[in-house]
Amino acid sequence: MTDFKNRNVLITGAASGIGRRVAEKAAGLGGRLILWDIDQENLDKTCADLGNKGGQVSAYVCDISDRKAIHATAEKVLVEHGNIDILINNAGIVSGKTILDAKDEEIIRTFDVNTLALFWMTRAFLPGMITQNSGHVVTIASAAGLMGTAKLTDYTASKYAAIGFDESLRLELRRQNISIRTTVVCPFYIDTGMFEGVKTRFSLLLPILKEDKVADKIIRAIQKNRRRLIMPLFIYSVFLCKLLPVPILDAIADFLGINKTMDEFTGRHPG
Ligand SMILES: NC(=O)c1ccc[n+]([C@@H]2O[C@H](COP(=O)([O-])OP(=O)(O)OC[C@H]3O[C@@H](n4cnc5c(N)ncnc54)[C@H](OP(=O)(O)O)[C@@H]3O)[C@@H](O)[C@H]2O)c1
Repeated sequence: MTDFKNRNVLITGAASGIGRRVAEKAAGLGGRLILWDIDQENLDKTCADLGNKGGQVSAYVCDISDRKAIHATAEKVLVEHGNIDILINNAGIVSGKTILDAKDEEIIRTFDVNTLALFWMTRAFLPGMITQNSGHVVTIASAAGLMGTAKLTDYTASKYAAIGFDESLRLELRRQNISIRTTVVCPFYIDTGMFEGVKTRFSLLLPILKEDKVADKIIRAIQKNRRRLIMPLFIYSVFLCKLLPVPILDAIADFLGINKTMDEFTGRHPG
């Protein structure tokens, strides 16, 4: 059982969406929140809101696509707060464009934020966890890391990498007999605004998830040391479907409307 009380909990992308919700809930459980985001204004607002509710919160503006900025901010955090107990690698971005429409810079940034930052963040805070022989590294990946979709080549590839990162990290820690926990989170679309405009054909099987419920489940998964959280349940069928010949797999994805979910995507930052 991972307890939040008086634990240093660092969350990236904490100024909005899932990061903010998880921060609210972790603060309610007595965690000491260390929130990172690129968006100064919303970060200050989140910090003030949580502080007004009695939460212990500190905020750091950091663009996690910048490795040097991560190093500098991490050093500051370690000096000011000591070791991190629960690291939640949450920040993520999406371009939502086809492979030819996306600019080189957008593709690179997607990997910098969604994949490479996992390495720089974990390399910064894992040594402290190893020294204290406890800790928890959470990777917010996506159901897109289990199955591809049109207009998500960069995002999907970055999330496949995130899942591979978590899996190998878990096995590496196991191989070295280090008792640091890991949790990977793979949700379908969530109503945070990041994927504004997406559509689902069968909303009973594949609903657009509610931000608040997803945050609750992430908190519970961390508390229970669950290694993997996939939601909704129907997403587990991907593992079975992948045993089928590829043309059948593609036909099932077409039937479920998965390959059209991004057709009307606008996202939070249109353009
Ligand atoms: N929403 C979904 O449907 C969905 C589904 C599956 C998985 N996920 C994953 O869940 C995680 C959270 O998603 P969300 O929906 O909560 O997203 P969100 O509402 O857009 O929140 C992400 C936060 O991260 C910040 N951020 C973006 N780039 C950053 C950077 N370079 N450095 C630091 N902070 C940065 C964003 O700031 P700005 O707003 O200024 O960019 C925003 O405050 C992501 O990893 C996402 O891939 C989301």
